[in-house]
Amino acid sequence: MDRTLCLCLLLFTAAVAAATGGAEHNHTSGGLLWPTAAEESDPPPPTDDSDSDSDGGFSSLDGMLQWAISHSDPGKLKESAEAQQRLSASDLQKRQIEIKETLEKIKMPSDGELMKIAVRDLNNVSTSLEDRHRALQELLELVEPIDNANDLNKLGGLLAVTKELNHSDPGIRTVAAWVIGKASQNNPNVQQQILEFGVLSRLMKMVKSNSIEEANKALYAVSALIRNNLDSQELFYAEAGGWMLQDILSNASLDIRLRRKAVLLLADLAEYQLENVDRDEPPFFNDQDLLKSVVDLTASTDLDLQEKALVAIKSLLQLRTTKAWVFKDFCALGDALNRMRQLLHDLMVDEYQRDYVMDVESLRVEVEHIFHRKLVKQK
Ligand SMILES: *[C@@H]1O[C@H](CO)[C@@H](O)[C@H](O)[C@H]1NC(C)=O
Ligand SMILES: *[C@@H]1O[C@H](CO)[C@@H](O)[C@H](O)[C@H]1NC(C)=O
Ligand SMILES: *[C@@H]1O[C@H](CO)[C@@H](O)[C@H](O)[C@H]1NC(C)=O
Ligand SMILES: *[C@@H]1O[C@H](CO)[C@@H](O)[C@H](O)[C@H]1NC(C)=O
Repeated sequence: MDRTLCLCLLLFTAAVAAATGGAEHNHTSGGLLWPTAAEESDPPPPTDDSDSDSDGGFSSLDGMLQWAISHSDPGKLKESAEAQQRLSASDLQKRQIEIKETLEKIKMPSDGELMKIAVRDLNNVSTSLEDRHRALQELLELVEPIDNANDLNKLGGLLAVTKELNHSDPGIRTVAAWVIGKASQNNPNVQQQILEFGVLSRLMKMVKSNSIEEANKALYAVSALIRNNLDSQELFYAEAGGWMLQDILSNASLDIRLRRKAVLLLADLAEYQLENVDRDEPPFFNDQDLLKSVVDLTASTDLDLQEKALVAIKSLLQLRTTKAWVFKDFCALGDALNRMRQLLHDLMVDEYQRDYVMDVESLRVEVEHIFHRKLVKQK
């Protein structure tokens, strides 16, 4: 740990101890937030669907102190704090001024330095499970800015994180997949680097994990790796990624977030195909069972899933190789769209979600038109 930072932390601890007379730390002593045990521990497991995290790096003093504390020796801190309690009032005041000056002078560790520390911790076989988890969580925040994501490989970070995908602890594998997804999202450079580590098939296996979180983060990472990337899509199809998606779409007992991610990925892949007409259409898009699974999702009770299914159907209908009659006879798309119109009509009564429902309805109408045009064209 940086020497200045270390000194500063000692002074700071001393001041807090002295100010509170050694009593229980008040969390707001000295106007600075003192990290509580809860704040020091790892962030709670993600429960939302966004896979995004607020801010990256340590933008606040509080964040920096937490980082410093987690990397320092608690015994020494305590010893120093106790020594400082014996200071007289004027000594204390002098000390406080020193602290203030040091705090002003102190430089926050750069993101690059923080990433190096996290990577070093990951590469150290003696790092405890808890610290390993923390190192990954730190990387998760740090890779959010694209410059940091681009630097990660140079620091050996991508290799270190991809190794964690093989860890025996599902929690570690989950965060590792999450970091990979976040670093490669909309970043062709990092997508390519990760692809070269050959972890796509590993991530695809993780999608089948019994751990819901692991499966979700793995699918998030797979999506981020293959989105708008021809090479990794080829590999994805070669590794039977199409069937993996279909298994998820057709299994109603699977986690809803996983199913939403799967249909979103399918929609993305079909959209990408539409934008790259020169490429042969992967046969997977024309599989009747797949198309039926997607159409059946419009009968889901989850409006979000219905909407995503519509987005996918819209693109799938526009592919050259898909057949209008398959949508009509095998998938009963006409009936599905009618049913959906009725349902959306009923939902519109609820003022609270009317705008959203109207958006879904206009998408539904659009799909209906594309469907009818295709039927006429392929008559
Ligand atoms: C800590 O500070 C709060 C308000 O800032 C105060 O209400 C509370 O009594 C303090 N607790 C202790 C133990 O001093
Ligand atoms: C590896 O981690 C152990 C336990 O945290 C630590 O004692 C050791 O100094 C670390 N080694 C390196 C090279 O950082
Ligand atoms: C993970 O384990 C598999 C086989 O168990 C191995 O082929 C692969 O190289 C390992 N990956 C890493 C990054 O260690
Ligand atoms: C659907 O998913 C459940 C839960 O993972 C699994 O037990 C079941 O075998 C799956 N069903 C099919 C038909 O794959």
